[in-house]
Amino acid sequence: MKNVELIKKLELSGALSHKEFVSLLSSYTKSDMEYAQSRAVAISKKHFDNKIYLRGLIEFTNICTNDCFYCGLRRSNCLIDRYRLTKDQILECCRLGYPLGFRTFVLQGGEDPFFDDDKICDIIGSIKKEFPDCAVTLSIGEKSKQSYKAFFSAGADRYLLRHETANAPHYSKLHPKNLKLKNRLECLYDLKDIGFQTGCGFMVGSPYQTAGCLADDLVFLQEFRPHMVGIGPFIPHKDTPFANEPGGSLELTLFLLALVRIMLKNVLLPSTTALGTISPTGREMGILSGANVVMPNLSPKSVRDKYMLYDNKISTGCEAAECVSELKSRIESIGYITIVDRGDFK
Ligand code: 5AD
Repeated sequence: MKNVELIKKLELSGALSHKEFVSLLSSYTKSDMEYAQSRAVAISKKHFDNKIYLRGLIEFTNICTNDCFYCGLRRSNCLIDRYRLTKDQILECCRLGYPLGFRTFVLQGGEDPFFDDDKICDIIGSIKKEFPDCAVTLSIGEKSKQSYKAFFSAGADRYLLRHETANAPHYSKLHPKNLKLKNRLECLYDLKDIGFQTGCGFMVGSPYQTAGCLADDLVFLQEFRPHMVGIGPFIPHKDTPFANEPGGSLELTLFLLALVRIMLKNVLLPSTTALGTISPTGREMGILSGANVVMPNLSPKSVRDKYMLYDNKISTGCEAAECVSELKSRIESIGYITIVDRGDFK
């Protein structure tokens, strides 16, 4: 089947086989890409009109017990300055964000044992008490189902846990032995079962990734049916084992965003910071490939340069929450508007 036919089939049936995805990903041309982007934009306009949801990202700890080969926050990286925010500092971030129009706060951090379940629940409860009309999203890694239940009972609404790659041998090339794809996926199924709006996601162009791995990711998405999907290019970090690996491409990332929109229709799909990092107009191109969410950084300025997942992560330009008016006008310049809304999955 021709690529445009495959894209049409994906739109109509919401599914392609692994083989079809491999064929599409290994042979798409510029015009296939443009076709996918135009369908993705049409679908996102049908579901969300020209509205873009804002999420305030609070990177509250860069301490991590994991040692993922790609990540700048990995335990073995002794060259970064580690920090934790206090509950009051986290609440201050929300107080800054609320009048700027944020109605979702995303608490993201390394897997930091200092923040045990009680501390996390206390933070969730405090945010919910002060900002009852806001959603809280957690992005704090793999925990037991019991912990996830406690977070949900404390009021957390959503949980982001990228699966990173749905191909088990590939997963084991990106992670140390103690981390297993099986466990990651169990966490995702637990989260969904508990009732979280659940997000998974993957890096594009990570080392050892093949078209077959990306096809595994897409087949997994079509099975799992997440509410949110985070997709960004892999970007090397100088103090990791992958320092000298090439980064993921802008075009392939945009193509995957478009395919995910075409496949999952009403999914919440961020135009990620990593996309904004590899190209000055990456965020806008993400929206023009079907993304409908942006996540500006609400973390205190003093810690921004310490949450370096990868080299040159942007943190001072218009992805910073104080500059949200600039971000808004950039979004308006491509025909979209940011709205003051929790932006739940519907
Ligand atoms: N390049 C791109 N994305 C990365 N992440 C971690 N390290 C990198 C990197 N070097 C992503 C992972 C993780 C999310 C918080 O950041 O997908 O889930």
